[in-house]
Amino acid sequence: MNFKIPLFDLNFDERESEAALETIKSKWISTGPKTTAFETKFAGLLNASHAVALSNCTVALHLSMKLVGVNAGDEVICPSLTFVATCNAIRYQGAIPVFADIESLERPVICPKDIESKITSKTKAIVVMHYAGFPCEMDSIMKIASKYDLKVIEDACHAPLTEYKGLKMGTIGDIGCFSFFSNKNISTGEGGMLVTNKLEYFEKAKLLRSHGMTSLSYERSKGHANTYDVVDFGYNYRMDDIRASIGIIQLDKIHHDLEKRAAVRSIYLDKLKKLDNIIIPFVNHKEFSSNYIFPIVLKNVDELERDEVRKKLAANGVQTSMHYPAVHRFSVYSEFYKELPKTDLMIQSMITLPMYGGLTESDIQYVVKHLA
Ligand SMILES: Cc1ncc(COP(=O)(O)O)c(C=O)c1O
Repeated sequence: MNFKIPLFDLNFDERESEAALETIKSKWISTGPKTTAFETKFAGLLNASHAVALSNCTVALHLSMKLVGVNAGDEVICPSLTFVATCNAIRYQGAIPVFADIESLERPVICPKDIESKITSKTKAIVVMHYAGFPCEMDSIMKIASKYDLKVIEDACHAPLTEYKGLKMGTIGDIGCFSFFSNKNISTGEGGMLVTNKLEYFEKAKLLRSHGMTSLSYERSKGHANTYDVVDFGYNYRMDDIRASIGIIQLDKIHHDLEKRAAVRSIYLDKLKKLDNIIIPFVNHKEFSSNYIFPIVLKNVDELERDEVRKKLAANGVQTSMHYPAVHRFSVYSEFYKELPKTDLMIQSMITLPMYGGLTESDIQYVVKHLA
C-alpha cells in the first residue's frame, strides 16, 4: 500500500549517491579510510573519545556485553519496551535478561527504582534505551550503577545527538550503541557504531570486530603491516567504506535534519493539545532531542480500540506503527517473563505517528484530523 503520509521518509539526495560512487571508483570498498573518517566525525559530534563503526547496532550491543564482561549466568537489567535486539545481545552471551518496567506513560523509559529493586548478586550490567529519542534518567541510573558496581550500556539507537544535562546520549554510560538502519535518524542501509570514552574497550572492540586480527587488509595494502596475529576469538562485525561514505554525508545533514524534526514536533504538540483523550510522552521535555519517532498514548483504551484508530488512519493514507511489541511477551522470552504493568499498558494503547523532517504543517494537520 502506498501511504499518502508514510511513517518515515529517507532524507537522501544526490550527495549520498555521489559519495557511494566515489568510494566505488576508488576501488577500496571494504573497511578503510572512509570508515575511519566516519568514526572520527561521529565521535567528534558526540564529544566521545572513541567510536568503532560496525555492521549494525545488534553487533554493537553484543560486543558491548562482551567488553564489559557479561558472561553465561550473569543477569543484565533491561527494558522490555525496546527493539528485541537490545535483549538478544544479553542472550548471545548466555546471560539472563531481567526486565524492568517503564517510569510511566508520560516517560516510557526504564524506571531507576524498578532497576534497583531487581538487582541481585548475579547482576552485572544495566542496559538502557532512550525511547523515541528522549533520555532515561541517567543521573539516578549511574548512581545505582556505581553503588552496586554495575556497568551501563546505552542503546542510543533512537537518540543520536540527544542531550541530557549537556551530555550526548551514548557517552554517559560505559558504552553507547547506535544503529544506521534505513529508518534511523542517520541511515546507511545497515550499519552501527559503538562509542566509548574508555581506551581499553575501544581497542578490544576494534580487535573483536575483525576476527581478533592485529592488522586489517587496508593496513597491509598500505604496507603498514605484512602479516597478522589473531589474539582473540573475534567476529566479522565490520562496516564497509561504501556505507561509511554515505554515513559521512548523513552526518553533514544531521543538525539541519534534527532542527526540522524539532519543528515538526512543535507543530504536532500545538495541534494535538486540543485532544484531551491522549497523552504525549515527554511533552514538557526541553533539552535537545533527536525526535526519532513521535509516539502518543490513547487514554483508557484496550488493544482493539487502539487498533481501530490505527485502521482509521491507514484507511485515510496515514501510516502508523507501534513501538514496540514488548520483549517480555515474545515466545522466545517466555522463561524470562516478569510482570510489567506499565509496559503492558503502554503497548496496548500507544501509536507511533509519522515523523520525519519533510513533514509539512498541512501533513500534520491531516494526521491530527484523522486521529480526532
Ligand atoms: C532500540 C534499538 N535497538 C537496537 C536496534 C538494532 O539495530 P540494527 O538494526 O542496526 O542491528 C534497533 C534497530 O532497529 C533499535 O531501534
